[in-house]
Amino acid sequence: MPTTQPGGALLNPAHRTPRARRYLLCRPTHFAVEYAINPWMSEDAEVDTALALHQWENLVRAYRDHGHTVETVRPAPGLPDMVFAANSAVVVGGRAFGSLFHAPQRRPESREYELWFKAAGYDLYRPESPCEGEGDLVPVGRYLLAGTGFRTTRDAHAEVQEYFGLPAISLQLTDPYFYHLDTALFVLDDGLGTGGGEGDTGGAALAYYPDAFSPGSREVLRRLFPDAVLATRDDALAFGLNSVSDGRHVFIAPQATGLIDRLAARGYVPVPVDLSEFHKAGGGIKCCTQEIRS
Ligand code: ARG
Repeated sequence: MPTTQPGGALLNPAHRTPRARRYLLCRPTHFAVEYAINPWMSEDAEVDTALALHQWENLVRAYRDHGHTVETVRPAPGLPDMVFAANSAVVVGGRAFGSLFHAPQRRPESREYELWFKAAGYDLYRPESPCEGEGDLVPVGRYLLAGTGFRTTRDAHAEVQEYFGLPAISLQLTDPYFYHLDTALFVLDDGLGTGGGEGDTGGAALAYYPDAFSPGSREVLRRLFPDAVLATRDDALAFGLNSVSDGRHVFIAPQATGLIDRLAARGYVPVPVDLSEFHKAGGGIKCCTQEIRS
């Protein structure tokens, strides 16, 4: 029997168990940097579209090689950020809560994703308040961590809590480089595959960059996840926290070298996937990936 720490993290690395996931992505056919809505973007940025496509295909291959299902939404012309599938919705227990983008340039994406969800048999809920899907809403254990400060509003946190009946824990983001929650934090283990624990966060495990949050929000994270892996600013700036974990394998930016070492020491298996072309738009691995939780 593996022993567990107070926060529920398994001490024995051999027990990190992956769970097969269903991911929704969008081919970067029309990906470009055409406007600047976060500090990573600059209007004169040059994107190597062939390289971007190659990098994205590597991500899809890495997911499939590790037993995950990848589906894709049809890319629409004129929507250069549509590749960032995470922002379009958050899906928990087969129920889909859609998006209402902060930036007018991205608003039409919601409708494109809605078509995919409809065809896939989901009745997508349309939020009334600005809300950018899994970019800011991160399911973990029996909670939904909910970022605000730049994109998703506190009104949307209330709306999503009401919709799912899951407590939304509002977290205040304070650094414009980490404008979405998924640039500052990711779930290593959602605690759902192990039968959960007795605590409110079950067997869940997290990694985050503390200085991306207000002091109070940092304290909330420390209380809920005392055993979390803490990342440095360098790791965070390398998009190391914009990662995807299946409970064992962590699909992560190779530039986040410090975090990669720390995760390996905790028994996770880092799978480096370089999405450097997408960093020019302020996005990485997680931004390109929407998890469909049935
Ligand atoms: N250029 C996009 C934006 O600023 C990047 C979105 C990244 N997505 C994410 N889930 N963090 O909206």
